[in-house]
Formats: sequence, structure tokens, C-alpha cells
Amino acid sequence: MEAPIGVIDSGVGGLTVVKEMLNRLPNEPIIYIGDDARCPYGPRSTQEVRQYTMEMASALSKMGIKMLVIACNTATAVALDEIREHFSFPVIGVIVPGARGAVKASETGNIAVLGTVGTINSGAYDDAIHALNPNATVYPLACPEFVPIVESGLYKSESASGIVAKALVGLAGKEFDVAILGCTHYPLVQHHIQAHLPDGVNIISSAVETVSDVEQMLLLKNSKRHSASEVAPIFYTTGKIEQFSPIVEDWLLIDQPDVRHIIL
Ligand code: DGL
Repeated sequence: MEAPIGVIDSGVGGLTVVKEMLNRLPNEPIIYIGDDARCPYGPRSTQEVRQYTMEMASALSKMGIKMLVIACNTATAVALDEIREHFSFPVIGVIVPGARGAVKASETGNIAVLGTVGTINSGAYDDAIHALNPNATVYPLACPEFVPIVESGLYKSESASGIVAKALVGLAGKEFDVAILGCTHYPLVQHHIQAHLPDGVNIISSAVETVSDVEQMLLLKNSKRHSASEVAPIFYTTGKIEQFSPIVEDWLLIDQPDVRHIIL
């Protein structure tokens, strides 16, 4: 196999970025690691998230990746710089692309950011949005309840809708025209989020913009794969294969995906 692109997340959230990669860059081999055994990262200390992110990046480095996508906002917020310094391959995060997509989409400059406690507390979205639009008003909201719904596979359930509705009360009275899904798990509950946000709010996930950055980097490094044959992605989880596989099948529409266990 030609050198693959590595993708990492605390669990299944990064699959939302993989979905966009499979659409836009179908000939690129992908190796994914989801650290489901230690998910969620949102409530963890900066030091823990840095260490776990380094462990995933190191494992992929040994597998010979040509680029790394940190498809996790929480890890991007606290570990991107360190990972970039440590490895020679290009490393793409999800926060600057997400902020860019939101600033482009917002007419009023009033932007809500939904994310994990770690991402919201880091202020990384505030910084990224204000770097692009100094006049923007940002309404951050930590939604620690959402990741467990997704990881447990309950994202389509009615109870998920109620949990999302309750969390979004935190934005009541705020006026915004764009909401960023500042956690890669959240597109799996996007239908619930959309249903409980005011009409007309445009929801932005960082996946589309992130994959644009991946493509640009491939072109810049002259490392875009030329062969037109598609290669099935390989997924590693530190957690249970039987919990991970159904979400890959459902979200990426891949029959019998290649899901393996990894110890970091
Ligand atoms: N999917 C991740 C993110 O984008 C992490 C969620 C978590 O583990 O708390 O932030």
C-alpha cells in the first residue's frame, strides 16, 4: 500500500472527517485510530489529552503515514503544536478549518460554538474566529452529554433528542446565525441539534473545510495518490470492535469494515 493518511480521534467522532475524505479523496489510503477505551477526552486534563494524542500519532508514525489529521477538536486545541513539532509529516487540525467555515457562513458575525469542556475551556475557537473576524461575537457552549450518546450508539434515539434539547437551553436568548459543531462526534446528532436550534441557524461542521486543507497539503507536498484504485480504510480502536464496527457501517456505509484492536 502507498503511504496512508493517518486520522485520529478519542473515539468514533473522527469518522465524520473520514466520511468527507472518502467523498473527496477516494483514492487515498486511510488508517484511523479511535481511542474509545479512554473516550471521552473532553473532561480530561490537558496533560492526559496531550499524552494520548502523542501515543496515537506515534503508533501511526510507525505505520509509515504521510500525513496526520487530528480529527478531534479537544486534541487539536491542546496538542496540535506539540505534535507538529515532534513529527516530520504534515499535521492538520480541525479548529482553524471549522472557524474558517463558520466565519465564511455567518452574515451577522454572531457564532455559537458547541464543543467539549476541554475545547470550550481552551478558548481555541474564540481565538481562531477572532483572528479571522475581530468583530465576531462568540457564544461558547460545552455539551459534555453528547459524546457518550454517540459512543454508545444511541445517537438516533428519542432519549438523545431530549438530552440535546436540554443542553441547548444554554443558548437561549442568544442571537446567532451560525453554530459550529466544535466536536467531531456532533455531526452524528446533528439532526437533533438542528431540531432544537432556532430556525435559520446554519450548522457548520469542520469536516468539509478540514478535508480542503488535507487536499491542499497533499498538492503542496506533491503526495496526492495518482493511482485511481480505491483502497478500503483500516480502522483501529483501543475499545471494543463490536461497538465500533456498527457505527462505521452505519455512518460510512461500509459493509464489513476492517476494524482491528490496538493497544497504545
Ligand atoms: N471528538 C472529539 C472532539 O472533537 C472528542 C470528544 C471527546 O472525547 O470528549 O472534541
